Amino acid sequence: MTLENKLIYCSFCNTHKDKVKKLIVGDDVAICSDCIELCTNLIEDENSVTEPQTKEEEVQYDPASIKEYLDVHVVGQDSAKTVLSVAIANHYKRITYPPKDLDIQKGNVLIVGPTGSGKTLLAKTVAKYLKVPFVVADATSLTEAGYVGDDVESMISMLVNAAGGNPRLAERGIVFVDEIDKIARRSESTSITRDVSGEGVQQALLKLVEGTVCRIPSGGGRKHPGGDMMEVDTKNILFISGGAFVGLKDLIGNRKNGTTIGFGADIKDSKKEGDLSEVTPDDLTKYGMIPEFIGRFTTTVSIKELNKEELLRVLTGVKNNYIDQYKYLLSIDNIKLEFTEGALEQIVENCLTLKTGARGLHTEIERCLMPHMFNTKKYRENNVIEINITREQVLKPKSLI
Ligand SMILES: Nc1ncnc2c1ncn2[C@@H]1O[C@H](COP(=O)(O)OP(=O)(O)O)[C@@H](O)[C@H]1O
Ligand SMILES: [Mg+2]
Repeated sequence: MTLENKLIYCSFCNTHKDKVKKLIVGDDVAICSDCIELCTNLIEDENSVTEPQTKEEEVQYDPASIKEYLDVHVVGQDSAKTVLSVAIANHYKRITYPPKDLDIQKGNVLIVGPTGSGKTLLAKTVAKYLKVPFVVADATSLTEAGYVGDDVESMISMLVNAAGGNPRLAERGIVFVDEIDKIARRSESTSITRDVSGEGVQQALLKLVEGTVCRIPSGGGRKHPGGDMMEVDTKNILFISGGAFVGLKDLIGNRKNGTTIGFGADIKDSKKEGDLSEVTPDDLTKYGMIPEFIGRFTTTVSIKELNKEELLRVLTGVKNNYIDQYKYLLSIDNIKLEFTEGALEQIVENCLTLKTGARGLHTEIERCLMPHMFNTKKYRENNVIEINITREQVLKPKSLI
C-alpha cells in the first residue's frame, strides 16, 4: 500500500475515512475521531485514579504531621525529629507559596551524629512523606569540576533521574549528602598543595546549595561534548548533609571548658567530651568546614547513639523492622521464625559493643539466620516448621552444614 493509500485508513483501528466522522492525517499516520475519543477517555480515567495520590496539595506542610510520620519510621531522636520537621515545613511552605516582595533565604539542614543512628533514614523518610524525589550522594566521591571523579553536578543528574527525567519535579527534591565531614579542610600544615577533596569540593558544593542554574546532560549519565543538555535551577532543592564528625565532641568540650589544644592545655579537661547538641557554627569551622558553607546550613540537627531500649524497638517495634522482614522471607518456605527475649537482647548487646548502631542489627540477624536460610530445603523435607533463635545461638550461631 502506498503511503497515500494508507493514510485514508485510521492507523489505530484501520477504519476507512468514509466510515468515520473525521480522519486526522499526520506525516505518516492517521487517527480517526472515534479513536481520539477513546484515547481522551482513557487519559481522563487514568488521571482520576492517580491524581489525588500524587497531588502535592495533599501533603501537609505542618511540622506536627511531619513529626508524627517520622515517629512511625524512626526510633528515638525526638528533638532531632522536631527540629527537622519545622525546617522541612518552612522550606516547603516557602517554595510552594513563594512570597511576592520578601526574600526568604533557603535553610538547608545539617545532621550530625554517630553512624547507624538514623541520619540517612531521617532524610529518606522526610522525602517519602513529602512525595518528592530523593537521592543520597556520598561526599567522599565528589570532586571539583575538572578532576577525575564525579563533579558535584552529578548529584543533580541523579535527582533528575529519581524524578523520572522531569527537571521541574527535581527542582523540588531533596539531595542528601552523606559523609560531609570527610570533606573538611585538612589542618594548615598539610594543605601546602591544592586540596582536591576537601575545601575545593566544599566551594563547588556551596554554589549548588546556594542556588544556581546548572546544565546537565538531558539523557542522564556523564557530560560529553555536543550532547543535549538541560537546565536545572537548584535554588529550591533542599540539601541535607549528614556526617559523624568524629572528634567534634572534643572541640565542643574544649570550647566549653576554655581549654585549647597545645602546650599547657590541661589534659584532664580536654578529655571532657562536649555534647553534640551544643554545636555552634564556630565549632564546625574549627573542624574544617568553610564558614560560607556552614552559613548555608541554617538548621543543625544532632542525633544520639541509640540506647539498648531503642535498638530493641528498631529490631521489633518499628514499621518495616528487620525481624518482620526475615519472618516474611522464611514464611515463603512455610517456616515460622521466633526469637526469644534473650536472643533479641544479645543481638542488641553485640551492636552496642561493636558501636555499629542500628546498622549492625542487620548484620547480626543475617549472621544468626544464615545457616537456617541456607538449609530451608532440608528443613522442608524433614518437616521442620519452626525456627527458634535463643541467646545461645546468637552467641554461637549454628555452623553452616
Ligand atoms: N533511629 C532509627 N530508627 C529506626 N531504624 C534505624 C534508626 N537508626 C538507624 N536505623 C536502621 O539502621 C540503618 C542504617 O541507618 P542510617 O540512617 O543509614 O544511619 P546513619 O546515616 O546515621 O549512618 C537504617 O536503614 C535503619 O534500618
Ligand atoms: Mg548514612
